[in-house]
Amino acid sequence: MQLQHLLGIEFLNPQQINEILDLADHYANKNRTASHNSNALAGCTQVNMFFENSTRTQASFEIAGKRLGASVMNMPMEASSIKKGETLVDTALTLNAMHPDLLVVRHPHSGAVDLLAQKVNCAVVNAGDGRHEHPTQALLDALTIRRSKGRLHRLNIAICGDIAHSRVARSNIILLGKMENRIRLIGPVTLMPSGISEFGAEVYHDMEEGLKDVDVVMMLRLQRERMDGSFIPSEREYYHRYGLDAGKLSYAKPDAIVMHPGPMNRGIEIDGDIADDLSRSVIQEQVEMGVAVRMAIMDILMRNRMQNNKAMNK
Ligand code: NCD
Repeated sequence: MQLQHLLGIEFLNPQQINEILDLADHYANKNRTASHNSNALAGCTQVNMFFENSTRTQASFEIAGKRLGASVMNMPMEASSIKKGETLVDTALTLNAMHPDLLVVRHPHSGAVDLLAQKVNCAVVNAGDGRHEHPTQALLDALTIRRSKGRLHRLNIAICGDIAHSRVARSNIILLGKMENRIRLIGPVTLMPSGISEFGAEVYHDMEEGLKDVDVVMMLRLQRERMDGSFIPSEREYYHRYGLDAGKLSYAKPDAIVMHPGPMNRGIEIDGDIADDLSRSVIQEQVEMGVAVRMAIMDILMRNRMQNNKAMNK
């Protein structure tokens, strides 16, 4: 697979998606054994640059890199020169001069990670850029669905809540659409993105109607940090209409799974008991699959990089 960077799901075809998921599946099984460390990334320097807060994604990339034997460095962006007025491109060029092999970047501006990838010589992984894409999240969600449902096609999948501000929704809509699933987007009119008809999904504003007979229910957090002004009347009202509780979930198929990328706001978009119900909720498994998917992506990118370096040195 000739992949140099992972900037978005939009650049992957179904065959590449399947190849990534197959390798991630292998890592997921290996991670459950005592011998989960390898040296696939030995000698590689991985730098995590998170310009936005993150707990699980940053930890997941760090564990994935270390498990494969990479030297992992977390750049404390709060303390970095960006705060002193250095541009993103200057920061990138400075880092590039230190010859890292892999940059993992999260940034609040859509398109910032693409821009950075054009300026550096190493592989770049998008760990979430604004409301644009979060490709490793969509891949880990896909792996979780595939392992739970036994397939990743012809499923009815509902994505619910703040679609407008969510890069998770965007990457998932693209990935699940490429794999030929039927996607329903459920949420208030104010939280639907403009140009929604281009997504090829069905839009619902009523949870009970939208959840009818779905196989997968994916809940999203209200992305308050990306909103200017108020998009909902009140949290109570939002929970009443769009929060996932047992009553609303009963409209989905009896074996429907419940997903959430985290961080989760219990009592706003999801009822705590539903989130904790292991017969329905695969939220912890999503976190587990996150490490496996990131190991697979970094393994593929670093193998390609080594091959390209060899070809150049010949
Ligand atoms: C998501 C993100 O940062 O886009 N979280 C994550 O990666 N675990 C979703 C969110 O912040 O709501």
